[in-house]
Parts: sequence; C-alpha cells; structure tokens
Amino acid sequence: MRKQAMEIVQQEKVGKDIYRLTLAGGLAAVPGQFVQVGVSSTADPLLKRPFSIHYCNGSRLVLLYQVTGRGTNLLAAKKEGEILEVTGPLGRGFPLPEEGRAVVVAGGMGAAPLYYLLHALKSAGRDVTFLYGARTAAALVLQEQYRSLVRHYAAATDDGSFGRQGPVTELLQEELSRRPGVVFACGPEPMLRGAAAIAAGFNSRCFVSLEARMACGVGACLGCVIPGADGRYRRVCADGPVFAAEEVFPA
Ligand SMILES: Cc1cc2nc3c(=O)[nH]c(=O)nc-3n(C[C@H](O)[C@H](O)[C@H](O)COP(=O)(O)OP(=O)(O)OC[C@H]3O[C@@H](n4cnc5c(N)ncnc54)[C@H](O)[C@@H]3O)c2cc1C
Ligand code: FES
Repeated sequence: MRKQAMEIVQQEKVGKDIYRLTLAGGLAAVPGQFVQVGVSSTADPLLKRPFSIHYCNGSRLVLLYQVTGRGTNLLAAKKEGEILEVTGPLGRGFPLPEEGRAVVVAGGMGAAPLYYLLHALKSAGRDVTFLYGARTAAALVLQEQYRSLVRHYAAATDDGSFGRQGPVTELLQEELSRRPGVVFACGPEPMLRGAAAIAAGFNSRCFVSLEARMACGVGACLGCVIPGADGRYRRVCADGPVFAAEEVFPA
C-alpha cells in the first residue's frame, strides 16, 4: 500500500451519474482490492473516499463510480490533467480458483470491481459466466466491455427493460442448476445474501465483496466493522472487502 499523486487521463460519463475515471500510474493489485481517493485539495471533505479498482495495469488505474453525494460530486467535477491523491491498493481481494468454472454476479455498481476480476479469470483460462443485474437497462453500464470477456452472459433488470425481469439471483439459481461453479458476487447486501444462500444450496463456494462507511481504510479506526457469522467483528477495509460468504452471513 502506498500513497501517490496520480494525474487524471480521462474522465468519461458512461451512464446517468456514472463516470469512468482513468488515472496515470501503475498499481499492483489483485481484483477486489480498493483505493482511497482524495476528492478535494482542501480539508473539506477531510476523508478520502473508497472506490474499488475497476481495472489496473502497470501504467494506469481505472475507477467506475456513481455520484451519490458531496465527495463524488467533487470527483465528477475534476478535469483531465488534474492530480488526485490515491492510497492503495487496500484490503483483501478475490481468491482466484485454480481450476473449474466461475460464476460472477453483479448488482448495479457492484459491477465495478468485477471487470478486473473477469480480466484475471480470462487470463487464467477459466470458463466464466457473468450475470449482470440492475434496476433498469440504463443502469447496466458498459455491457459490451463485460460481455467481451466471458463465454456466458446474461442480464436482468427489476423493471424488465433489458434481459430477464426480476432479481439477478434468479439467473444465478438457473446457472448453478445447469453448470456448477465458484460464485463471486458484488452488489447490494440483500442480493449478496441471496447469492450466498443459492450457492450454499448447490454446495458451491461463494465470495462476496461488501461495502461499509469507511474512514481510515487501513484497519485502524474500527469505523467499518460488521459482525461475522461467528459473532466476532470484522473490519471491512482490512479483513475484506471480499469475504467467504460463510464468514459474514450465518447459514
Ligand atoms: C470498499 C469500497 C469500495 C467501493 N467501490 C465503489 C465503486 O467502485 N464505485 C462506486 O460508485 N462506489 C463505490 N463505493 C461507495 C463509495 O465509496 C461511496 O459512494 C462514496 O464514498 C460516497 O461519497 P460521497 O461523499 O459522494 O457521499 P456522501 O455524501 O458521504 O454520502 C451520500 C450517500 O452515499 C452513501 N454512502 C457513502 N459512503 C458509502 C459507502 N462506503 N458504502 C455505501 N454507501 C455509502 C451514504 O449513506 C449516502 O446515502 C465503495 C465503497 C467501499 C467501502
Ligand atoms: S475504515 Fe478504519 S478500520 Fe476500517
């Protein structure tokens, strides 16, 4: 983990209130890890904001983020050539399976870290299914870039405006009944709990990426703790954000 000043190379709007931000500078990270980004050059807001690594290689870092409040509004106003202070990579990412199929499940902005995971799985020669769910078709951003990395792809929307109408977990249920695989999921917590329960029903391993309000981002302030399935607390920033489902969701 290190702190570095990174220049904005590109700030693209890719959906309603959703931006893809490309920064110059390498980062050695595994999929599922995140960075803390300073969104202001003043002390207001003081805290950096956490964002998953959407993609990175030796020369660039890409984030995919949604504007939800003051910090992300400030970030969206940044222009190419401006410098951001970035700390990372932070946290624990997804374990890559040594063999077998992978079923990767995204809910809304939960798709952000899964793009880098799909890259890694493709490079490792894994057979991958990607299931992409969102409220509406408009929220299924960058579908083509995800689809291009996988053998099997399906989408679901709450309002039926694209793909299957209903929760993306219905697609997961069908997928696992056809083909077994290790499940990797990121999205709203109810979706993650549903995915974990479905995976357990098929005796499939399941890894979930969680979110929590964060301050330090490095395990020191205990601002992000959640109860684990065994009743002991976990720090989402340092023990996660990726957990084996059985570690955080009781059976
Ligand atoms: C490990 C991690 C990875 C993340 N990756 C991404 C990502 O790749 N793309 C992305 O768009 N967002 C991501 N988030 C969420 C992102 O950090 C928040 O949306 C952002 O910090 C909001 O800052 P703000 O100042 O704009 O909002 P605020 O004004 O602070 O809050 C606005 C709204 O956002 C909610 N919110 C704020 N922080 C969080 C949070 N940490 N988790 C959930 N809800 C929050 C608040 O409850 C409030 O409703 C991630 C969060 C974590 C913890
Ligand atoms: S944000 Fe400080 S311990 Fe996790």
